[in-house]
Amino acid sequence: MSFPIDVVRAQFPALHLSDEGKTRIYLDNPAGTQVPQSVVDAVSHAFVHSNANLGGFFKTTKAADQIVLDAHQAMADFLGGREEEIIIGPNMTTLTYHMSRTLGRNWQVGDEIIVTRMDHEGDVSPWLQIAEDKGMVVRWLPFNQESWRIEEEDLQALLNEKTKLLALNYASNLTGSINDVQKLTSIAKAAGALVYVDAVQFAPHGLIDVSKIGCDFLACSAYKFFGPHIGVLWGRKALLENTEAYKCRCSSTALPEKFEIGTPQVELHAGLTATVSYYEDLGRQLGAQGSSRDAIAQAFEGATFYERDLMTKLISGLSALPGVSIHGITNSNRMSERVPTVSFTHDRKTPDEIAKALSDNNIFVWSGHNYAYEVVRQLGIDETTGVVRIGAAHYNTPNEIDACLNAVEASLDKSTVGLGAYCSVVRLRSVSSSLSFRQRRVPLKKTV
Ligand SMILES: Cc1ncc(COP(=O)(O)O)c(C=O)c1O
Repeated sequence: MSFPIDVVRAQFPALHLSDEGKTRIYLDNPAGTQVPQSVVDAVSHAFVHSNANLGGFFKTTKAADQIVLDAHQAMADFLGGREEEIIIGPNMTTLTYHMSRTLGRNWQVGDEIIVTRMDHEGDVSPWLQIAEDKGMVVRWLPFNQESWRIEEEDLQALLNEKTKLLALNYASNLTGSINDVQKLTSIAKAAGALVYVDAVQFAPHGLIDVSKIGCDFLACSAYKFFGPHIGVLWGRKALLENTEAYKCRCSSTALPEKFEIGTPQVELHAGLTATVSYYEDLGRQLGAQGSSRDAIAQAFEGATFYERDLMTKLISGLSALPGVSIHGITNSNRMSERVPTVSFTHDRKTPDEIAKALSDNNIFVWSGHNYAYEVVRQLGIDETTGVVRIGAAHYNTPNEIDACLNAVEASLDKSTVGLGAYCSVVRLRSVSSSLSFRQRRVPLKKTV
């Protein structure tokens, strides 16, 4: 059955917006996806009908309780875990900081952790900081620049009896390559380490099965897979039960509440359930029968297959442009080893110049290191300028990829800034890259 792209697109109101006659093309998906109308409706319905705190006797509090329970069940179906193993919070980074403090309670001076040079900072900084607080040793795991993945022997070389945890990603938010997390997990676990998987970039592109992976924790963010701005952490039940949580004295000691501190974003939980239902409905349209998990699996099968064509088109189009270097797998026989997140640099144009030119055409892409800070450093790319990152999702079309490629090509043809001006851009970026988006607004309006 062919992928029902028109039916998919009809569900996303944002895809049909235009500005000054130019339709929006969303290729900023690795940084955040648009949402179907059903998610919008679920969030606003919750605000109107269930806007209360949890655990009371009256109608709206009971409705809010149900929303929270449903969201946990939906995410258990989505990740292949159990309801009580699903911890929902503000975003992946906050959940990871919280869990790193919690796990770190029992770590000692001289214990070791392994972080990778392939990960987003959300799965690096929390571990570096707990290691610093506890006097632990940090071991850095590089990715292989030919396979673009973490290789087993490189991991093996860093493990020893003192290793407490391996933090690694399922897929890179810069190169797009997918790690063999199941294999890497089994190696780390055989050495006695806990394994924390950052699945933020993989989650929109493939079915996750936490029991198959065998890891201890797995984090993702719903806003990357067509849902609201909310994060989800799955943890192994036995481990969560035996881990003392940082929580208020009077709050619940049950799972998962002991790790879900404060008042939850009830309305976004409603949106989260609707997001999983979106996948389920897509799977049913593609012919799935059986459980919701079966339908979700079918949705991913169809979407992954469809995305692969977009990715191949994007990569072959970019590869044909003079001066463009793609940082990731480009071999068309290896498309199953990556997600459709494609980053590149150009030998004359800065990533900001290209992203700005695309923005002028209402094509949305990101430039910079995108918090894949270690990745750009390992690749020898200036972290103050980074890369251009184009990321497709299953609601994009081949025509959108063509429009993007044409706009990239046109941006490269335009006369380039002189070296002096280029250097001043780099200087400006190196100052501004550590600023917040509020501070950045003014200095980044550069005139070069
Ligand atoms: C691979 C990866 N990990 C972690 C994060 C951080 O996620 P959040 O924004 O939910 O904290 C991102 C966000 O872009 C990401 O791409």
